Amino acid sequence: MNATDPFSSLAQERRSVRAYLPTPVPDDLVREVLTLARLAPSGANLQPGALIAVQGGVRQQLSDDLLTAFRQGQQEAEDYDYFPKPMPLVLRRRQVAAAQALYGALGVARDDRAGRDAQFERNFRFFDAPVALVVTMTQGFGSGGYMDLGMTLYGLMLAAQSKGLATCAIGALASYPNLIRQHLGLDATSHIVCGMALGYADPEAPVNQTQTTRCELEDYFQQID
Ligand SMILES: Cc1cc2nc3c(=O)[nH]c(=O)nc-3n(C[C@H](O)[C@H](O)[C@H](O)COP(=O)(O)O)c2cc1C
Repeated sequence: MNATDPFSSLAQERRSVRAYLPTPVPDDLVREVLTLARLAPSGANLQPGALIAVQGGVRQQLSDDLLTAFRQGQQEAEDYDYFPKPMPLVLRRRQVAAAQALYGALGVARDDRAGRDAQFERNFRFFDAPVALVVTMTQGFGSGGYMDLGMTLYGLMLAAQSKGLATCAIGALASYPNLIRQHLGLDATSHIVCGMALGYADPEAPVNQTQTTRCELEDYFQQID
């Protein structure tokens, strides 16, 4: 697969980027990317979910408190389930491969707990991206709403890519929904889905050399006559 039409190039070149240049992203450009993302389809055109840009002192305090919560081993009930429990072996293998790709790029050994934690903690700083987004979903939506919102998020990633920007979704934030709501002044009806880092990729950062693979088409597609 190596097509060069515009969509193929965007889809093939997008990566999760976990280190950013300090270059600010103009507000208008952020708005343009989010407007394009919102062209995603949704069931009955309900357009569920919302994006909140967290800035300045609120962002700093939120990141500090998320880090403290993580370091103290605090645990909260998450707003929605993500990974299957138990994780089937085939999925566990994919998870391990993704982790190996990430820590391999960083040169962090499998048993280097401190090195792994240091990288994991960068989630709570939105990888120092110039734009930090928190993605929320109105309480009451089922899996269909999350499916719709996922389309928006991929739209956001590709729209960003088309503008020379990079992204990384941050599911790690979903571990602290109450803490995040508190900082953003949200009530319990706003469920915390994930974060999203947005900005210009740092091409020199080893972590941005992370390269994941995908399973074979035959593993998730079949034709039945
Ligand atoms: C909903 C979602 C949540 C994610 N959460 C995290 C996260 O918390 N931390 C992280 O480093 N990467 C996170 N990722 C990035 C995935 O690890 C990444 O998409 C996957 O390994 C495939 O790599 P690629 O995006 O570079 O193609 C997340 C991706 C998605 C779609």
